[in-house]
Amino acid sequence: MERIIINGGIPLRGEVSICGAKNSVVGLLPAALLAEEGVCVIENIPGISDVSMMFSILESLGAKVRNINANTVEIDSTNITANVVPYEMSKSLRASYYFLGALLGRFQNAHVAMPGGCDFGTRPIDQHIKSFEALGATIVTDDEMVVHATADKLIGSTVYMDVVSVGATINAMLTAVKAKGLTVIENAAREPHIVDIANFLNAMGANIRGAGTDTIKINGVDKLHGCSYSVVPDQIEAGTYMAAVVATGGKALIKNVTPKHLESIMAKLIECGATIEEYDDSLLISREKPLVRCNVKTMPHPGFPTDMQPQFTALLSVASGVSVVTESVWDNRYRYVEQLINMGAQISVDGSIATVTGVEKLRGTRVGATDLRAGAALIIAGLCAEGTTTIEKIEYIERGYENIVEKFSALGADIKRVSIPDNE
Ligand code: EPU
Repeated sequence: MERIIINGGIPLRGEVSICGAKNSVVGLLPAALLAEEGVCVIENIPGISDVSMMFSILESLGAKVRNINANTVEIDSTNITANVVPYEMSKSLRASYYFLGALLGRFQNAHVAMPGGCDFGTRPIDQHIKSFEALGATIVTDDEMVVHATADKLIGSTVYMDVVSVGATINAMLTAVKAKGLTVIENAAREPHIVDIANFLNAMGANIRGAGTDTIKINGVDKLHGCSYSVVPDQIEAGTYMAAVVATGGKALIKNVTPKHLESIMAKLIECGATIEEYDDSLLISREKPLVRCNVKTMPHPGFPTDMQPQFTALLSVASGVSVVTESVWDNRYRYVEQLINMGAQISVDGSIATVTGVEKLRGTRVGATDLRAGAALIIAGLCAEGTTTIEKIEYIERGYENIVEKFSALGADIKRVSIPDNE
């Protein structure tokens, strides 16, 4: 079993370079299946386990995946014929649902099991299904929870999202790029990765306008082709390092970021006592003042991202005063709180609200990641804590953070990954 061991109490100092965005690349890779001519060369791909699984799924469908270097890949989808994602593969990550939209767009026929992924309450895909149906597909879910999507012809339509959904917005785009005529997605999600995937599809020959606003218009085209593209920087990876620097009272240059995408995170960190200098594609962040409380409410972009909620709660657990955190995207994203309480945090959860009373010090102990961002929160807590923190279930963390131990070490943290026999 792999574990992360941290000896806390060291302010982080130095610089860290941010990778391409996980939640963008897990949509871009299935989108590459839509290229019927030429190859897609995608740069700035993060080295994370969710991406490795995506490559395996692409290969199982007949695409040729060639690593050009550590962060650049070439995908040749010209000769694929398969439209069934192997059951165990689709169950292993949430984003496998993007193969439904991409394969439906390419073949008018797709078969993908209901996705797995991190568990924070019910994660329905009704808005995805509603979008496919609006574009002319028939959807049947069988007893094994495999979704079968078929269409004689895809026809552009108006899709109104009842909830703002990142996944459903991307899936609707993936299918609509090949539907005849105009599709209008109303109440669309506006995250940077929506814009990134729309830009990628446009580079492949699609005609998408309005990505980044709540109305996206797509004129279908007959064929898409390969292109060269670089993935947008990961706002959540950046936010995680920024929160860690502020929590430990350090100073660091966060490189390869898009500052505009970090506005809500920066605003909250400044409220807590951080100082930030913005440059074109980097940020210098530090905290010399005392760490103070603030209230945080998660919302779809441009609101404060739910994927930063656990890391922020970890930071607030050592900020003076009482902070109120409201989770308004997921119905059960506080499972990690128990772990922070084991480290001495004072947090009470009532439904979607966590009340955090800052303590002077957390103390290191043995804890376990309950999901990806929960794992990142435990690292931040461990970096602030007195003594040694041992984090188990780190496979969750490796789904979405490239070289996290190496990056924190380079910032001066006393952190290591160790392999321990399962019975210890
Ligand atoms: N929802 C529905 N019906 C749907 C789809 C979503 O009711 O058909 C609800 C969800 O239950 C949730 C809300 O809408 O309450 C938002 O869900 P969304 O569809 O936006 O989430 P997602 O696409 O499944 C992506 C990220 C998550 C991130 C959310 C919100 C990926 C693979 N996952 O999930 O990322 O929390 O958007 O920004 O892109 C993470 O990176 O740690 C992570 C969990």
